[in-house]
Amino acid sequence: MRNILRYAHPEVTHRIAHLVMRHVSPFYEIEPHLETELLGVRFRCPVGTGAGIDKNGELLRTFQKVGAGFHVIGSVLLREHRGNPHPRLYRYPERLAMINAMGLPSKGVKHVLKNIYRADIEIPLIVNIAGFNIEEFVTLSKILDRIGIVKIVELNISCPQYKNIDLHNPELLYDLLTRVREVTSKPVLVKIRPRNVDIRKIVHICESFKNVGLTISNSFPIKADFLSSGVGGVSGLPLYRLVFRLIKLVRDISDIDVVACGGVFTSRQVIELMRKLKVSLVQVVTAIAYEGPLAIMRIVKDLSK
Ligand SMILES: Cc1cc2nc3c(=O)[nH]c(=O)nc-3n(C[C@H](O)[C@H](O)[C@H](O)COP(=O)(O)O)c2cc1C
Repeated sequence: MRNILRYAHPEVTHRIAHLVMRHVSPFYEIEPHLETELLGVRFRCPVGTGAGIDKNGELLRTFQKVGAGFHVIGSVLLREHRGNPHPRLYRYPERLAMINAMGLPSKGVKHVLKNIYRADIEIPLIVNIAGFNIEEFVTLSKILDRIGIVKIVELNISCPQYKNIDLHNPELLYDLLTRVREVTSKPVLVKIRPRNVDIRKIVHICESFKNVGLTISNSFPIKADFLSSGVGGVSGLPLYRLVFRLIKLVRDISDIDVVACGGVFTSRQVIELMRKLKVSLVQVVTAIAYEGPLAIMRIVKDLSK
């Protein structure tokens, strides 16, 4: 089944996953010893989704059902945005990798809030927000500050499609975090790219604010002439070692809270990240894109064992 899903068209995977999910009931106990904490928030298990799987908050119950410790919605934009034209996704099943150039399609924050209110769920939510300028990040943070079930705001400063502004620039990042802190006291994660970053400076800036951690990382930016925007982000297994190395660099200088994201497919990787690098949470994206939401169930079950 996993192999069929791996090679199927993304739309087909999505449909099969939904069909299966309708007939799956919550079926297993999550071990209490899987509980973890990040930025003062408690999670019943360290594995959950990453941004890109549920951009508009339409799969909240699905991921609660499969036993995810948390669910990331996003990237959410202030207003509706169509994203890039097709083709914008390419798969390399034999490498368990993908290149995407989605271009931040979003139905806008109002639509997402409606879905959150309607869902009646308990799973802690992380909302990943994106903006084309600092003001948009600030407005979104202010809106989310009022939503109790949103435990953490994740700032996507690293979309490979951003063109006019690079918020990895230390002065701009400082400005962004100062402005965001003025409108919300919620924990904040800064999601960075996996290369071309001055990691020392970024860590130093994040540490100068209360309750700010890092998500490492977004996809790896590359040129991709076969996709409509000409630029894409590599995700999946090839990213794992890169992410591991970058987190190791962070750990050499700091105890800052870190969420790992990139190429995680197995519970072994989760254990490696937690034991060796003191990562608190692990986000999964490409594994879900290949296998559907049951990828989370598989990893969490193995982790329990
Ligand atoms: C199809 C697709 C869409 C994505 N969309 C977003 C997004 O909207 N915002 C974001 O911060 N990251 C986005 N990402 C990046 C993922 O959240 C993640 O950082 C990256 O894919 C590495 O994790 P993985 O190897 O488990 O996929 C996307 C990735 C994929 C494959």
